[in-house]
Amino acid sequence: MERTALIYYSLDGHTHFIAEKFGKHLDCPIIRLKLKQEFSTKNKFVKYFWAGKSSAFHDKPALANAPIDLKAYDTLIIATPVWAGNLSSPVRSFLATVAIDNKQVYLIATNSGGSFGKCFATMRRLLPTNTIRGQIGFVEVVEETYPIHKERLEAFCAEILAGK
Ligand SMILES: Cc1cc2nc3c(=O)[nH]c(=O)nc-3n(C[C@H](O)[C@H](O)[C@H](O)COP(=O)(O)O)c2cc1C
Repeated sequence: MERTALIYYSLDGHTHFIAEKFGKHLDCPIIRLKLKQEFSTKNKFVKYFWAGKSSAFHDKPALANAPIDLKAYDTLIIATPVWAGNLSSPVRSFLATVAIDNKQVYLIATNSGGSFGKCFATMRRLLPTNTIRGQIGFVEVVEETYPIHKERLEAFCAEILAGK
């Protein structure tokens, strides 16, 4: 799909998994956000503490990506894991450091069963000069559970393709 790009962050692979599915269905580039200093995933408690704290304190950790030029795109799909009820800090960094203006935007979030409400509300607030066309959340999305999510994902892709 021309002029559409999906930008996402993923620490544990769930959002990466769904981003690749969207990329294939929409035939659009997907750009993975990386941190200069990635959160450690070796120890679950340490991971939840530091990544959760960074989200709760609205940190904007430095991205390792080369400058992301969005001029070529009029439609952006932005995907994040939910951390401590909110968007992940790397996606907050992206929204704070890359100029996003006058785009058609679709929001995706993944979580493990909590609420998506605050995460989407924050993302909408951080994209004030854009048109948010839709949002979709996926709970516990991995290869094994994909059959549960497939239909919703495809319906959302159809909406994006139709420009709804
Ligand atoms: C630091 C941290 C905080 C999280 N907070 C929440 C939460 O508040 N609600 C929830 O449902 N899931 C929460 N999760 C689970 C993730 O949102 C979920 O596993 C997500 O799909 C992870 O995406 P990823 O694999 O792309 O990193 C949290 C995970 C981490 C690492």
